[in-house]
Amino acid sequence: MIELENVAYSYSGGALFSDISLRLAPGSFHFLTGPSGAGKTTFLKLCYGALLPTAGQVTIFDKDLAALTRDDIAILRRRMGVVHQDCQFLDHLTLSENLALPLIASDRAAEDAQQDLEDLMAWVDLTHRADALPPELSGGERQRAALARGVIMSPDVIIADEPTGNVDWEMSQRLLRLLVELNKMGKTVLVATHDLSLIRAAKSQVQARVLRIASNRVQLAGADL
Ligand SMILES: Nc1ncnc2c1ncn2[C@@H]1O[C@H](COP(=O)(O)OP(=O)(O)OP(=O)(O)O)[C@@H](O)[C@H]1O
Ligand SMILES: [Mg+2]
Repeated sequence: MIELENVAYSYSGGALFSDISLRLAPGSFHFLTGPSGAGKTTFLKLCYGALLPTAGQVTIFDKDLAALTRDDIAILRRRMGVVHQDCQFLDHLTLSENLALPLIASDRAAEDAQQDLEDLMAWVDLTHRADALPPELSGGERQRAALARGVIMSPDVIIADEPTGNVDWEMSQRLLRLLVELNKMGKTVLVATHDLSLIRAAKSQVQARVLRIASNRVQLAGADL
């Protein structure tokens, strides 16, 4: 589904990553962990084609990213739900209008789309905030909204960057359960988090593997978490 082969990445300074080879199989659930500034967000960007590697090859849905045009990458991205760490919304639209945007752009039947929207807003406990404008939301509410927006199109792959960073433990468990349920439906899930207790909680619910960033490498961690 997502494959990296001998991938390296550097911003203008030294190499952030080098020699990364790994494969995220269809239907797998991975966590990505590592200290602040280690490169979690950068790694996720490589996985969804927002950045191209400075060396090596990234393959998404069996397609070599380097061989694709921007338009081709945009088409691939429709099958990926990305939840950004710094979630942006259109501030002049209400929360429910923001979440409905991808649905409007698709050819889904209006009634189905409306039902999905309502279900998802209930899951992330934002039904009562449906008519709020994004600047009126708390940090945790924005984050829950970002997760809802990331999964509303039922993407094949869900990539979430610290989706529980601003929410309390109970809500983080709820968001985790949503990701686990989606994974049980066959979606491939990749979640960056520094929250080891979230990872431990997930391990009782799903066969999750943990990728750890250390010394410029991204490697599968052992079972010692
Ligand atoms: N656009 C950029 N240009 C130059 N350097 C960058 C850029 N984006 C990130 N970096 C640097 O690359 C390193 C990795 O950043 P990244 O955001 O991937 O880390 P992270 O693990 O997601 O951190 P956090 O846990 O704080 O979100 C950091 O040192 C950061 O300053
Ligand atoms: Mg980050």
